[in-house]
Amino acid sequence: MKIAMIGSGYVGLVSGVCFADFGHQVACVDKDEGRIGALLRGEIPIFEPGLDALVEANLRSRRLSFTTDLAAAVAEAEVVFLAVGTPSRRGDGFADLSYIYAAARDVARAIKGFTVVVTKSTVPVGTGDEVERIIAEARPDAEFAVCSNPEFLREGAAISDFKLPDRIVVGTGDARAREVMSEVYRPLNLNQPPLYFVDRRSAELIKYAANSFLATKVAFINEMADLCEKVGADVQDVARGIGMDKRIGPKFLHPGPGFGGSCFPKDALALVKTAQDHDAPLHIVEAVVAANDRRKRAMAKRIVAACGGSVRGKTIGLLGLAFKLNTDDMRDAPSISIVTALQDAGAKVRAYDPKAMTQARPIMPDVTFCDDPYDCATGAEALAMVTEWDEFRALDLTRIKSLMAAPNLIDLRNIYRPADARKHGFSYSSIGRP
Ligand code: NAD
Ligand code: UGA
Repeated sequence: MKIAMIGSGYVGLVSGVCFADFGHQVACVDKDEGRIGALLRGEIPIFEPGLDALVEANLRSRRLSFTTDLAAAVAEAEVVFLAVGTPSRRGDGFADLSYIYAAARDVARAIKGFTVVVTKSTVPVGTGDEVERIIAEARPDAEFAVCSNPEFLREGAAISDFKLPDRIVVGTGDARAREVMSEVYRPLNLNQPPLYFVDRRSAELIKYAANSFLATKVAFINEMADLCEKVGADVQDVARGIGMDKRIGPKFLHPGPGFGGSCFPKDALALVKTAQDHDAPLHIVEAVVAANDRRKRAMAKRIVAACGGSVRGKTIGLLGLAFKLNTDDMRDAPSISIVTALQDAGAKVRAYDPKAMTQARPIMPDVTFCDDPYDCATGAEALAMVTEWDEFRALDLTRIKSLMAAPNLIDLRNIYRPADARKHGFSYSSIGRP
């Protein structure tokens, strides 16, 4: 099939490349000339494991192309995916749909022949109706169907998530669109992921409900971790103990510094706003959003406490800045709140991240960026592990301790075992463990 992917960011690029890898002919479009220029030179603008090789292979096979020419790509395409950003709107937290609507207008002008327009971006319930209205108004002659196909990939595991999904949700009431979408995902038949057809509004809501539910699991285990600390229990054991119940499941029960990233925070907030608008408030999700905001701020207090109650004039090292491992994405990363709070309290912050420092630099102008974890530990009165990168799992703790001004280790991802850290002479604190 001929596919145009509008927006070549984390989702558009991964989806477009994977569709090309399935055998479809894909044009990845972006209005950002720098981004398309880089892609044409073979430079991948984001860090996502395995993406560079997949892009290269599909460019070579000529199934994949990159362009800023939306009109030409859309005119050729049987299916047009909208994968542009839907960030939180400044001020009120609703999803900002201006990019979606602008893209829909651009697409409308360029459609030729029957075209399925698919929102892959995460959009509030009812957005598909508006996209349909925009296209119909701009092009009363156009033959098209608008459907919703929300994306469930995770950054850092995006390619395997896309190629081996638990389910593919398609929201449409149009028989032709249903056929086309079945054909788009037919190459996945071997893996037999359920292609789950629902109405468009339900599909849009499934996406928000899924992200908010997962965020709720994370917020739940984080609060449970706080209780464990007070009562002398081990949250890792509690998580394992409840996760063995198949009704609960073991995933998304790792306690940490609070959920971040480009989606959980913004999507939970947008769902809260949608629900309030429809007089059906989601009190649980509201509590999750509030608890997570509090948690991110509370992480800096832990570091201050480990330093004896004050960090004024002290050097603090942070290992990991990205919102989770295997990504360079800094959007809503807990490290941002931690750095701000530490600097407000008078600390000098040093930091190291294997992939996210380029994105972090403009957000954290007063942080000293380091060459490696040992450089980061040098002269620090406390070292906090904020992101669970593999390269932090087997550090030479003897060397780390010898470089630090004081042996305070604050492990916000429970990477180390308390006994091991203490054996190396650290004053060690972690999340939800005695
Ligand atoms: P992103 O900001 O990385 O990428 C969006 C891209 O769209 C940008 O490169 C931008 O230049 C481009 N763009 C905007 N308007 C355009 C237009 N009119 N024409 C051409 N290009 C245009 O965003 P993202 O992280 O890929 O997220 C995209 C959507 O997918 C969001 O709704 C998000 O919630 C959803 N989503 C994201 C993830 C994820 O892991 N990042 C996962 C699932 C769903
Ligand atoms: C999340 C969802 O998992 C994807 O299904 C969805 O497609 C995506 O949002 C989206 O809509 O963009 P992502 O944000 O890439 O994916 O990352 P996750 O692995 O879900 O982690 C989100 C946050 O929760 C991270 O800050 C992570 O550290 C935190 N987390 C996650 C925990 O603290 N504990 C856990 O057990 C799991």
